[in-house]
Amino acid sequence: MTPTPTPTGAGSPPAAAEPPVGLPRLLAGVAGGGPPMDLLAHLSRHGPLPARGRRGPALIEVLERSGLCGRGGAAFPTFRKLAGVAARRGPAVVVGNGTEGEPASAKDRRLLTAVPHLVLDGAALAARAVGAPDAILAVHPAAAPAVAAAVAEREARRMDRVRFRVAVPPERFVTGEASALVHWINSGVATPTMRPPHVSERGVDHRPTLVDNVETLAHIALIARHGADWFRTLGTPGDPGSSLVTISGPVGRPGVYEISRGMTVREVLQAARGATEPLQALLLGGYFGTWLPSGEAMELRLCAEGLRPAGASLGAGVLMALGVGSCGLVATARLASYLADQTAGQCGPCVHGLAAIAGELDRLARRAGRVDLERLSRWGREVEGRGACHHPDGAVGMVRSGLRTFAEEVRLHQAGACSAASDAPVATGAGAAAGA
Ligand SMILES: Cc1cc2nc3c(=O)[nH]c(=O)nc-3n(C[C@H](O)[C@H](O)[C@H](O)COP(=O)(O)O)c2cc1C
Ligand code: SF4
Repeated sequence: MTPTPTPTGAGSPPAAAEPPVGLPRLLAGVAGGGPPMDLLAHLSRHGPLPARGRRGPALIEVLERSGLCGRGGAAFPTFRKLAGVAARRGPAVVVGNGTEGEPASAKDRRLLTAVPHLVLDGAALAARAVGAPDAILAVHPAAAPAVAAAVAEREARRMDRVRFRVAVPPERFVTGEASALVHWINSGVATPTMRPPHVSERGVDHRPTLVDNVETLAHIALIARHGADWFRTLGTPGDPGSSLVTISGPVGRPGVYEISRGMTVREVLQAARGATEPLQALLLGGYFGTWLPSGEAMELRLCAEGLRPAGASLGAGVLMALGVGSCGLVATARLASYLADQTAGQCGPCVHGLAAIAGELDRLARRAGRVDLERLSRWGREVEGRGACHHPDGAVGMVRSGLRTFAEEVRLHQAGACSAASDAPVATGAGAAAGA
């Protein structure tokens, strides 16, 4: 007989569900564009949260063996962050980072609107492990109704010990930076703060604070149920598990996909029904990411060790394809202008340096005169590492990879020409992927 699913804390718990085999894991049972999975459907698919064992301190040990690294961009080992906050004195706070200010990413919105309870499970488990009575879900406006409804379902059944709060920060690129998010929660101002102190020591209301990406929390929910060995059955030994990626540009079906870490770029693009025109380049990792010529990128494996030799990383899981009909220099200049505009306006090198770099790139993209490339790269070196956060470093890294990958285009533009077939706008975001 199939057991009737019952939420934890409301009678006898449902039997543990069979662990999902292969892909998808996070998005298992999710139909494209359907309503969020409600609590009963969630428990029926995934089973209840483990009562003991893989909760609390034991969870940190399981996470260490699982090899889970953060899915918010920096890929820091998750267990280490939990252990750091758990070691602090006093009640902690968990912040689920679902702000997703990265324009080329839609994966956190997709996750939160499809399976909000998986993220809330992860936040509840992390809260238990670090000693936090409060968890704040800071989410993109598009995801807020689904998350608020899921919290209400759980509260109605008194399912969690942790108190959940849903917050919708301003939609700016820098808002998702951990210290900016905490600053906004504390004071309503979404700008990064100087470290020390790190938010893990002194964060929300001066309490030790764990800021984890919402996808990271969802993986925690599955690892707590199925264990470290199960997690490692996908991915590579050095970079285990699955992850969500947002694919945009000229592909058959742009959107959010769950992949096994270590799949090649070619395999992942095939999942999106392949390129609809010959590709010249890919941006891996998002606006802070790395442009690579498509010939070099296609056989790269999407995992830390596969991307490192190319100087790239998966970041927040972004793959942006650029067709041969578009100008890579124009695309790079647009991204640089966007990032310069998104500075939080408090560190001189970031404010003035990024604006100057973006201005010169814009001139080059418009073929409005020759640009001193040596001076441009010197400005990059002068800006790097000089901000309170990594915003300028990420921007300069992306620009540098664009100038390298589109070197021939740079030469053409310096001579007043351009290889692009038309002046058609270049897609530079997940707008194309939003329908996924
Ligand atoms: C400018 C900037 C913007 C960021 N935006 C986000 C974001 O939108 N979402 C996110 O999860 N992390 C973002 N991060 C990374 C966070 O600071 C932090 O590392 C992350 O939320 C930690 O979660 P994880 O360990 O689960 O990856 C950003 C970092 C920088 C420097
Ligand atoms: S480096 Fe830039 S984005 Fe970061 S805090 Fe300073 S001004 Fe703001």
